[in-house]
Formats: sequence, structure tokens, C-alpha cells
Amino acid sequence: MTNEQMVARAKAVIPGGVNSAVRKIEPVKAWKYAKGAYMYDVEDKKYIDYNAGWGVNILGYHYPDVDEAVKKTVDEVCATGLGTSELEIRFAEKIVEHVPCAEKVLVAGSGSEATYHAIRVCRAATGRDKIIKFQGCFHGWHDYVLRNCYANTVDELYTRAPGSDGMFAPAVDATLICRLNDLENVEETFKANKGEISCVIIEPIVHNMGAVVCQTEFLQGLRRLCDEYGAYLIFDEVVTGFRVGLGGYQKICGVTPDLCTMGKAIGNGYPIAIVAGKAELMDKFNTNPAGTVSFQGTYNAPPVCLAAGLATIGVMEKEPVHEYIFKLGETFRKGMQEIFDRLGVEAEMLGYGSINIPLFAKGPFRNQEEILKGDAKKSIAFRKAMVERGYFFVPAEPKRLVVTYSHTEADVAETLNAAEDVLKTLNL
Ligand SMILES: Cc1ncc(COP(=O)(O)O)c(C=O)c1O
Repeated sequence: MTNEQMVARAKAVIPGGVNSAVRKIEPVKAWKYAKGAYMYDVEDKKYIDYNAGWGVNILGYHYPDVDEAVKKTVDEVCATGLGTSELEIRFAEKIVEHVPCAEKVLVAGSGSEATYHAIRVCRAATGRDKIIKFQGCFHGWHDYVLRNCYANTVDELYTRAPGSDGMFAPAVDATLICRLNDLENVEETFKANKGEISCVIIEPIVHNMGAVVCQTEFLQGLRRLCDEYGAYLIFDEVVTGFRVGLGGYQKICGVTPDLCTMGKAIGNGYPIAIVAGKAELMDKFNTNPAGTVSFQGTYNAPPVCLAAGLATIGVMEKEPVHEYIFKLGETFRKGMQEIFDRLGVEAEMLGYGSINIPLFAKGPFRNQEEILKGDAKKSIAFRKAMVERGYFFVPAEPKRLVVTYSHTEADVAETLNAAEDVLKTLNL
């Protein structure tokens, strides 16, 4: 069957043919197989993949250590839904060892579940309803946070912009929106809502706007304001956790939040996410007999996902994974910038470590209004042409481009050559 036939077949039984809204980004392909840095569609066309399952596959698809650990676990361990297990304990011990804020850890199935739990426990601990999130940050699909994430025009910014129909209005209105990297704006919001804000949640590198790195002074300022106003600080490291280093971005920037959430790269493709942080907060969850904040889930901490997570951490501990992907990410970033400059294309590469994004505009890019300066039409035309040639740059703005431990220097060199050719052909 062709891609087109498969998609038509999918549409008959799956709304829109896909199982998550972002998967409908055109061109919609039907995938057959993926290995290392490559994906193959049902027509056996090969792509060098720069999406990596939205950053999940940090080591690459079917990484041998992860596959072996999973296979062994399938044969040996079952989820009984009761008590605890060696895998759960070892996994939590590893998180506590590596992540600065993590005194205790709970395992959920997705990043959205993790941010939901983190916010709820902050509300319970403070007795306050309101939270602060930032324009352009994404923290999952639930009603606490799904507002002011994506925007097509500057007119939409800082308005009441729920991300879905059917959201619970009081939850939307309890989420206050601030400007990223603007501490004054956050302080004003705290002052205007004195005694009402339970927590601030932030992506310390906002990869949902490509790759906007929060200024360290800004993160330090958030820490100070939270302490001053009796609120908690949550770093949503669902993307950055394990991708920038075993300790997340909190270890790099030196600002320790009260809680953090991590997901994606932890399991190298297997669904696992954590909420971790100060024991005084974590012990409020009712997994603890004295706790009063619900933490439940039939499928929490499944053995195969824990095994995948432990194997991924194991590879990161024994091999220079981060050093390698940072270097390759930089080669990609610098190479693309050189091409833009040589061809006189008004574009800038933004990025951190293994994650990059080309923006067809000139910086600085510190918040969503500045990101929106990027010419989305040019970007999508460029990305679509790359996909046609077999380099999967998700054709949507401002989606990040990711390298993994399985990408090679040769993959990147080949991609840069193709990018130069595409830019010349499109005359952007
Ligand atoms: C920063 C951030 N937080 C939370 C989430 C939600 O994670 P999940 O899709 O696993 O529910 C995402 C997903 O992209 C994310 O990027």
C-alpha cells in the first residue's frame, strides 16, 4: 500500500487518521520501521529523522542496550499493580542521584500527567488556586496549562487563549500568563495577586518555541520571587530532562526548583515521565499514608518502561552521549548558519545542545513575540522540500530539529549539502 492509501484507510477508523493532533502535520506518512537515526515509510522511502519522536529517542531508534533490557523484562517481570519492585526503586534512586531538586520521585505515564500532579500538589500545599505560566510554553494537554501555548500572530499573545474547546473556564482563568525573560512582569503579577499564586511553571529552555533559552538571571529571579511570595517553582523539563544532561537544565543553570517534571528522553521511546522534588512536597501525595493529594494510575511505572529508562541512563553514564550530541548539534547549527550567510538568506539558527531551529528572521529571540518575527511560510517551504528529499524536518513552525546519539557526522554533512541545494532552488 502507498502512504496515500494507508492514510485513507486510517481516516476511515481514526478521526483524521492520526492519534495525536501534531501528527496531522502535512505530509502525513504511514511509517513502517525506524532504526538508529532513520525512519522508513510504507513505500520504503528512507529519511534521516530530525524529529526523533519529538525528542524522545535520544539514543536513536532500537538502541541495542534499550531493546535488550526491554526484552529481558518482558520475559521476566510483570506489572502486578501492587506494592513496589526492584526496578522502581533502582529507577528512583538514579533520579535522586542525578537531578538536583529530586529528593523523592514518582513515575507517571506522560509529561502531561506529571505537570498535572506537580501543579496540584503546589495548590494543595499553599491552599492557593492561581498559577503562573509563560506565553509560548507548553506543559501538556490538561486544563491547568493548555492556554497561550501556540500563536499565529502577535494579536493573540497575552489574550485569553485556551488551547481547546471544552476547557473548564475556572481552570483557564486561574492560569496567569506572563512574558518570558521579563522579571518585572512576573513581579507585577505576583503583587497584583498577592497571597493567591501557588506556583510558577516554566520550561527553562522553551523548546516549544524552538529553542529559547531562559536567561539565568531570569530563572534566578523566579526563584527569588517564589520564595518571597510563598509560591513554589516548577521546572518543566519534559524536553530538557536527560537531553541536556543527566541532571537536566537545572544542574547546568544552577537554579534549583522545588519540583520538576521530566519525560520524553528518559525512556528512549518508552512512555515514562516523572515528577520529582522536595520531600516536603512529594510526601503530600497519597502514595504516602499521611498524604492527601491523589496520585494514582493503573499503568504508573510499568516494568518495560523502567527497564528502558534504566538502560538509557546506563548508556548516558558510561558513554559520552551528551558530549557527542552537543558537538553534532553545534556542527548542524554552525553549518546551517554558514549556509544562510553565504547565500544571503535572512535567517538565524537558534539552538541549545542537540536541538536546533532555523528562523527566517534576525534575532534576538527571547519570547514569543520575537519568535513570531520568523517567516513561517519560508520556513515551511524549506522544511517541506527537505522532507521530499529524505530529511525529515517537521514542516511546521517553530518545530525543533533534533539530533540523536545515532546520527553521524556524515548524516549531518549530507543534510547540510541538501539544505544548501534546497535553499538555492527555492531562492528564499
Ligand atoms: C515541555 C513539555 N511539557 C509537557 C509536555 C507533555 O508531555 P506528554 O506529551 O508526554 O504528555 C510536553 C510535550 O511535548 C512538553 O514539551
